[in-house]
Amino acid sequence: MAKKGRIAILTGGGDCPGINAVIRAVAKKAILESGLEVVGISDGYDGLLHNRHRMLHYDDVSGIINLGGTILGTSNKANPYRCPIIKEGPLEFEDLSRTAIDNFERLEADCLVCIGGDGTLSIAHSFFKDGLPIVGIPKTIDNDIQGTDITFGFDTAVYIATEGLDRVRTTAQSHHRVMIVEVMGRNAGWIALHAGIASGADVVLIPEIPYDLDIVTGKVNDRNSRGKRFTIAVVSEGARQKGGGRVVQRVIEESTDPLRLGGVGFVLGSQIEGETGVETRTVVMGHLQRGGVPTPFDRVLATRLGTRAVDMLLEGSYGYMVGVRGNDLVDVPLEEVAHGQRCVSTGDPLIRSARSVGTCFGDIRDALPED
Ligand code: F6P
Repeated sequence: MAKKGRIAILTGGGDCPGINAVIRAVAKKAILESGLEVVGISDGYDGLLHNRHRMLHYDDVSGIINLGGTILGTSNKANPYRCPIIKEGPLEFEDLSRTAIDNFERLEADCLVCIGGDGTLSIAHSFFKDGLPIVGIPKTIDNDIQGTDITFGFDTAVYIATEGLDRVRTTAQSHHRVMIVEVMGRNAGWIALHAGIASGADVVLIPEIPYDLDIVTGKVNDRNSRGKRFTIAVVSEGARQKGGGRVVQRVIEESTDPLRLGGVGFVLGSQIEGETGVETRTVVMGHLQRGGVPTPFDRVLATRLGTRAVDMLLEGSYGYMVGVRGNDLVDVPLEEVAHGQRCVSTGDPLIRSARSVGTCFGDIRDALPED
């Protein structure tokens, strides 16, 4: 990039703790080390489509490392390749990507940095194939992006879910109840798995391991008969009973991922109470997991990813996302990222560790300690 260059940046998909830290990292490095101008596009691809943007100066990105949300705004519905047509009757879509590309060209930016989850990065890949110079940065509390071991936002979500689980433990003990905590994660059980292990939950139900109700209720009954008169269960929003389906809360047709999951905690709660007679309550962590200050880990990760993304755009490594493998940052082709979500493998060592300390995943009856 020989001339005084300009980069554009957008954040798409659901917000998550650490986005502002990554915006800060990209913009500060670009401004301080390379004298680049930075344009912030508002509300993800919606702003690209409707020409909403503003210059980001040093002061705009100063003092935001610990700020939740995104100063740019976001949208988890906008997809320029599939825009809903406003009219009566069934929903139809049109491809307005050409408008978005023209708008990007009018910005006179040398590169577009797209910060987002699998939906945002898949669209980024389409734009790259259509000629836009794109660098991607993975973001999601779900930790489900292909090509990276970890995403920022995940650590904070696990921290918040673990705190929720720790808090329900004391009330479960006092009332001799089953307490269920439903967490987010879409089709991946990473948040439930990590928060379940961290909080010592008795039952962890994730989408990747459909549960057998008899085994879950067996765990509750075993605990009660051994004098442990409470049970803590964490259930991922995408969890489902063997032979059953996921519990869908709403359908947002224009979204790249139209199904919004939620409610399995209540279904499971009435199943457990009905089968065991033990009073059961459900708490849904919901968007609490996405709000507020990022953990130090997420701030550090966001800073590493954001600064590396600037190196990539200066090198002209377009069409790639910066990913994490082990302790290293790697360039991952966006094409790889666009191929579905990264779910928990049933042979994951974390699942083995959890089983070893007696955690029930709803599929195998536990070995009980000898009296
Ligand atoms: O992808 C992040 C996420 O929080 C998921 O865990 C959850 O299923 C979904 O977004 C919720 O989306 P919305 O904010 O549209 O309710």
